Amino acid sequence: MGETVRIYEVGPRDGLQNESVAIPTDTKLRFIELLVDAGLREIEATSFVSPRAIPQLSDADELMEQLRRAPDVRFPVLVPNERGLARAEAANVDAIAVFTAATDAFTQHNVGMTVDESLDIFAPILKRAGELGWWRRAYVSTAFGCPYTGRVEPTRVVDVARRLVDLGAEEICFGDTIGVGVPVQVTELVYIAAEAGIPTERQAFHFHDTRGTALANVTAGLATGIRTFDSATGGTGGCPYAPGAAGNLATEDLVYLLDASGYEHGVDLEKVLVAARYIADALGKPLSTKVGQAGGWDQSTGRPTGREG
Ligand code: COA
Ligand code: ZN
Repeated sequence: MGETVRIYEVGPRDGLQNESVAIPTDTKLRFIELLVDAGLREIEATSFVSPRAIPQLSDADELMEQLRRAPDVRFPVLVPNERGLARAEAANVDAIAVFTAATDAFTQHNVGMTVDESLDIFAPILKRAGELGWWRRAYVSTAFGCPYTGRVEPTRVVDVARRLVDLGAEEICFGDTIGVGVPVQVTELVYIAAEAGIPTERQAFHFHDTRGTALANVTAGLATGIRTFDSATGGTGGCPYAPGAAGNLATEDLVYLLDASGYEHGVDLEKVLVAARYIADALGKPLSTKVGQAGGWDQSTGRPTGREG
């Protein structure tokens, strides 16, 4: 038995929020069903943010009402403020994610406030979520670089993370929002965070493949003891700061790497490819992820697997 890795699927939320095509609620629900069928057990379903900020997820309330819950699947939702918390409560969720960044310039553009102001808003939200027994994740975006201010010091990233832990976040997810990070930076951030009292079990990493470094960064994370990685089936999401560039690390690419490296994760590659093709079709574009194009590869027969036709 190999070691276990958690794959935290962000396609329905982070993927779809950055796609310009509007996807009907029924299609999103079917996509999520296919992800559950593929074995994914943590699926970030949607966001209770302002529909004006993210129109792609304006159906969050209906989606959560219709979503068939499974006892062994966690469906976290993003919550930006008290209004979002109230919507999450009404939707009977049991897991949330709050989100800030390492740089004020980024949070000003994303949520119209500084990092400190965002933490002030999250304090009562994380407290209340804790009282309700909900699982709580916190994202720190721009963990390797900010589209407005450039390079970000890991000590600054960890300072924000540490404050989120103090407010009650169980898991910190470091986000490479613009896909600029490289493996040595991952290693450095993991160690600095661990030294600051955030053990590797409570750290997750969210890579974008904008510059082709996502899987290299995962490998660096694995080597330093990180066992939770975010990915989006179909590699959806694009990059709002680099039009046409690749988006989230694709779940199929991550699963291939983990399978071939002997890690247990419970996700079936062929079924992920079914879900990846489904969402690519819904978005009206070809599936452009690496494993989406090449298929998997059967080590015993030496043949490609999971390709259509
Ligand atoms: N759910 C639904 N609507 C909300 C809301 C929520 N959680 N929070 C605010 N709104 C609505 C308000 O009712 C108001 O609507 P109106 O203009 O029709 O009256 C409008 O949004 C503005 O509200 P305000 O309190 O002034 O917030 P804001 O304009 O400063 O926006 C955020 C702050 C955080 C709500 C908004 O920027 C946001 O939702 N951002 C999300 C960004 C995001 O998801 N990024 C990707 C994740 S990394
Ligand atoms: Zn992302």
